[in-house]
Amino acid sequence: MTDVGIDAIEIWTGKLKLDLAETFAPEMGEDPEKYTKGLGLYASSFPDAHEDIVTMGANAAHRLMERKGLTPDDIGRIDVATESAFDNSKPVSTYIAGCLEQVYDEDFHHANKGERKFACISGTQSLDDAYNWIKAGRNRGRSALVVATDTALYARGDPGEATQGAGAVAMIVSEDPDLVELSTEQGYGSADETDFLKPNQQFPSVDGKRSMQVYLARMREALEDFESVAGDTHPDDYAFIPYHTPFPGMVRKAGLLGYRHMIRGTEYEDDLADAIDRQPREDEFDEREDYEEAIRDYMDDLKSTDQYQEWYGEAVDPTLDISREVGNWYTGSVHIARASALRHAAENDLDVTGDRLLVGSYGSGAQAEIHAETVQEGWREEIDALDVDEQIRNRYDISFEEYEQVHDRHNHEKTVEMEAFTEPSGEFVFTGRGAMDERVYEYVE
Ligand code: CAA
Repeated sequence: MTDVGIDAIEIWTGKLKLDLAETFAPEMGEDPEKYTKGLGLYASSFPDAHEDIVTMGANAAHRLMERKGLTPDDIGRIDVATESAFDNSKPVSTYIAGCLEQVYDEDFHHANKGERKFACISGTQSLDDAYNWIKAGRNRGRSALVVATDTALYARGDPGEATQGAGAVAMIVSEDPDLVELSTEQGYGSADETDFLKPNQQFPSVDGKRSMQVYLARMREALEDFESVAGDTHPDDYAFIPYHTPFPGMVRKAGLLGYRHMIRGTEYEDDLADAIDRQPREDEFDEREDYEEAIRDYMDDLKSTDQYQEWYGEAVDPTLDISREVGNWYTGSVHIARASALRHAAENDLDVTGDRLLVGSYGSGAQAEIHAETVQEGWREEIDALDVDEQIRNRYDISFEEYEQVHDRHNHEKTVEMEAFTEPSGEFVFTGRGAMDERVYEYVE
């Protein structure tokens, strides 16, 4: 069977930075540690005046194609995942293809293009579509370009405002990939939920606390489903566990739940039994409430054990480094978590070739998906080629007044002229609207 997976990735962050502790917290009358310690976020990325989901996606895709020496003839499909689309008919992938055609002699006329929607999980669903297309033998030797791009903005004053972000991740999915091979086994946890939605509106209606419960419930369901096809999971099986990361504090909760599940009935649970007893089993309780309370107490104890802390520090914490600096990128979030983990491995000279990752994707509304990935030989070269640190460092640091302007500029219901804070160079930019209200882009040398 052919190996199929992610051959290469490129990351493009919005060029503006809002410092949450220094700039946002004081204006909100909040303790900065609510952001840095509670949510686990230092800053959010925002798009400059000339940036949007198309420019960020096209810029990431262009850099990726240049780096891999690909031209449009090498690409048989372009799938864009986003929950920030501005058109209910024309997909963002056509705009991105149009941008790329400005800089290549060839075109994408024989590439299948689409747009995937299921909140943040659609980035992973697009990877699946590409994987299935190649596995089915319909790709004619070509690769798929998958782009996850979002401007994750919340209404001013919404609690979600603390977790905003903007950026794109472009990925090439191909046979014999250089970065990671995807497992055939997958697990799903999916239910009709109204925790976070955008009924024909730009900014989401969110039930924040409930959304966190739904995330955990669906993720657990997906893990059980994954285990039903792939066998029991064990903490030692995975070098890293990248989760969808709306904010690192959410992943802290998911990591603890995942660890409890994975060690149940293993030697790890036995090792801990002297210190914190064994995990409560539901059949030991007459009332469900009593069982749930016992589980909560167990988790509190588990959280502070050295065994758990060590595992979390190695397998989960390294997935959060980029997210802390850029906020929530919705469809791209789990993909920057994977990149963050592999970047950590490169920086620490860890040899992870052949190691496995357990990837937990999530989209509100709601669905979780879990699959495994195997790190390929070419991972180091691919990760070393990323310049995400430099991009993060070079962002323009906006004041609170500038933030208010930027938020208005990207509010679809407002028409706000704004001077760009950064000078575009070697990138696609948004230049205005055409006769049919279509968005217009050009490449700036
Ligand atoms: N020092 C240290 N920690 C502090 C603190 C301080 N001074 N002040 C508060 N904290 C902690 C809190 O205890 C809390 O941590 P715990 O949950 O571990 O107790 C954390 O900081 C956040 O504080 P609050 O709960 O008071 O924050 P909030 O109510 O203002 O908002 C939120 C939190 C509900 C997540 C809000 O940001 C939100 O609505 N976000 C958008 C929805 C979201 O991201 N949901 C996640 C799951 S859904 C999903 O994943 C899809 C997606 O991408 C949107």
